[in-house]
Amino acid sequence: MLLLVAIVAFTSAVAVVASARTTANGLPAYTNGWQAWPKINRKPFTSTGPLSSAHAGRKNVYASKRKVRGKYPNGTVIVKTIVKPGTTYVGQFAVMRKVKGRWQYIEYERSGPRARYALLAQGQLCSSCHAQARANDYVFTKR
Ligand code: HEC
Repeated sequence: MLLLVAIVAFTSAVAVVASARTTANGLPAYTNGWQAWPKINRKPFTSTGPLSSAHAGRKNVYASKRKVRGKYPNGTVIVKTIVKPGTTYVGQFAVMRKVKGRWQYIEYERSGPRARYALLAQGQLCSSCHAQARANDYVFTKR
């Protein structure tokens, strides 16, 4: 009986956490309001850096907080929006979020302007390349 209570309590806690974290469009709630954050690129850009054509498109980068003495503070969320060639909506949405001094990386993709975002990639794959931008707190884009 005690076990059952524990399971029920655990399951409902998980459900609450899940709904608090993901918004209706599939993006994490901590990215809410990114449209109003300061842009850290001067102009939309189309260069792909060392990335393959998978990341081709028109890109903008937004940061929820400004750097303090060369580092982004804990809680900073940086969003890169990508409008793929031949489309007019944000189809790819890459996110960096600083938690306890370390960046967490996650990227989403969607198939249409009203489609829900789905997970594309995250973690080590991302951080290994971003290590090249270490001198700027692992962020390639600078103003
Ligand atoms: C092969 C290298 C490489 C990999 C892998 C990579 N990135 Fe990036 N990322 C870049 C470069 C270069 C930029 C600068 C903007 C551009 O060229 O698109 C960038 C920009 C970004 C930005 C905007 C902030 C900044 O650093 O300029 C975010 C957010 C981001 N990437 C998230 C991710 C996530 C999430 C992943 C994994 C799913 C990932 N990146 C994988 C190279 C990489």
